[in-house]
Amino acid sequence: MTIRRIADLLKTGQPDESVNIQGWVRTKRELKEFSFVEINDGSSLAGLQVVLNQDLPNYSEMVRQLNTGASVEIAGTLVASLGKGQRIELKAETVVVYGEADPETYPLQKKRHSFEFLRTIGHLRSRTNTLGAVFRVRNACATAIHQFFQERGFLWVHTPLITASDCEGAGELFTVTTLNLKQVPLTDAKDIDYSQDFFGKPAYLTVSGQLEAEIMALAFTNVYTFGPTFRAENSNTSRHLAEFWMVEPEMAFCALDGNMDLAEAFLKYVFKYVLDHCSDDMEFFQQRIESSVLETAENIINSEFGRITYTEAIALLEKADRTFEYPVSWGLDLQSEHERYLAEELFKKPLIVTDYPTEIKAFYMRLNDDEKTVRAMDVLAPRIGEIIGGSQREERLDVLQRRIRAQNMPEEDLWWYLDLRRYGTVPHSGFGLGFERLVQFMTGMQNIRDVIPFPRTPLSADF
Ligand code: 4AD
Ligand code: MG
Repeated sequence: MTIRRIADLLKTGQPDESVNIQGWVRTKRELKEFSFVEINDGSSLAGLQVVLNQDLPNYSEMVRQLNTGASVEIAGTLVASLGKGQRIELKAETVVVYGEADPETYPLQKKRHSFEFLRTIGHLRSRTNTLGAVFRVRNACATAIHQFFQERGFLWVHTPLITASDCEGAGELFTVTTLNLKQVPLTDAKDIDYSQDFFGKPAYLTVSGQLEAEIMALAFTNVYTFGPTFRAENSNTSRHLAEFWMVEPEMAFCALDGNMDLAEAFLKYVFKYVLDHCSDDMEFFQQRIESSVLETAENIINSEFGRITYTEAIALLEKADRTFEYPVSWGLDLQSEHERYLAEELFKKPLIVTDYPTEIKAFYMRLNDDEKTVRAMDVLAPRIGEIIGGSQREERLDVLQRRIRAQNMPEEDLWWYLDLRRYGTVPHSGFGLGFERLVQFMTGMQNIRDVIPFPRTPLSADF
């Protein structure tokens, strides 16, 4: 008999149906004449309650084996449930125990565990209610993202993970090498001799797929990348990972206004999709994790995002009736406390800040006529701060060359990027959404380590 998923049975299963399920035992309650076990197969937050009658063959041995964490296949008949909390339950007829889980040592017993503890058992934590809900919502977000772009005719392009360029120019690169680290070859000038390395030159894990996405946008008009990116940022915060996923649309023939409109429509679409497709999981986050997630989601879907310039943001921060840990003055980058104050307290909704000082932004952003600011945009979200960073790109060859030289970047290595300005250049724009920050924002999870299955952070690369 085919195996049915529990989410499907809970929704559509009817009394008297014969079904087979597979999954893991979450809880067991032993009574005199029968026992209950709850089985979860990861398809939904709720498990299916199974009733085991004492007249089943081998009853006591079977019940002894059915501890939390054990894997099973159960065949039986659905019956209307007399108990509270579920519409139907499964009356077991045959039970196969694939693997037992010793209750003395299995770490996920019924009590609540801290997220710190769960991180130490990354191989088991996905079997908990919270992490299960997170990864279902994460999956729904990813599906929504592809659907959003595909519906609008954007081409999904695959940009490389190994690259020779530092897109953001922030020097947060992980080096990729096959050189023997015990005996690194040196040039006559005592520099590392990368000509002997795998690629014949220094290579890194990418911090962003943007530069390659620009290449593709100048052939396909509208494209997006969605993949892992890497940053050797030594910051141990609740919002930073060394390996995170980024969604990066890039649009030719598009100025910053179109870019902002896309970012806003995009976030609204993803939130709506998740509310429509993961209502039980979202209800769970609302009740157990953060009592504002549903309100936040409605707020995103229904409100118009705020839009102000960096210069206006600085003026608002200077007027704030509070002291910040980091100073506020024109020219300094916004810190997350500033971003959160603006989005959370002042605007109470997402806010797009544009036109940042040239000095604090990357070389590729389009220079404004004042020459002091660039056509940058950051989307700031309540609770999270920066969730999206983007810009209109510098499409003028001479201005771009000037910016590259001013930042002492290796112009010869960027020959192909400059060529895009020599041949058929167009105004173009794009942005990057931190995928884990989106999932954090959506679920209300406090720590970014708990919205990616296997977090990589300084001093931690387990599982
Ligand atoms: O603002 P960032 O650095 O922008 C770029 O990389 C551009 N090249 C994107 C583009 O225009 N195509 O990063 C984009 C987003 C941030 O807004 C943030 O949400 C997320 O990526 N992000 C991180 N998320 C988790 N851990 C980190 N260490 C992150 N660094 C950035
Ligand atoms: Mg940024």
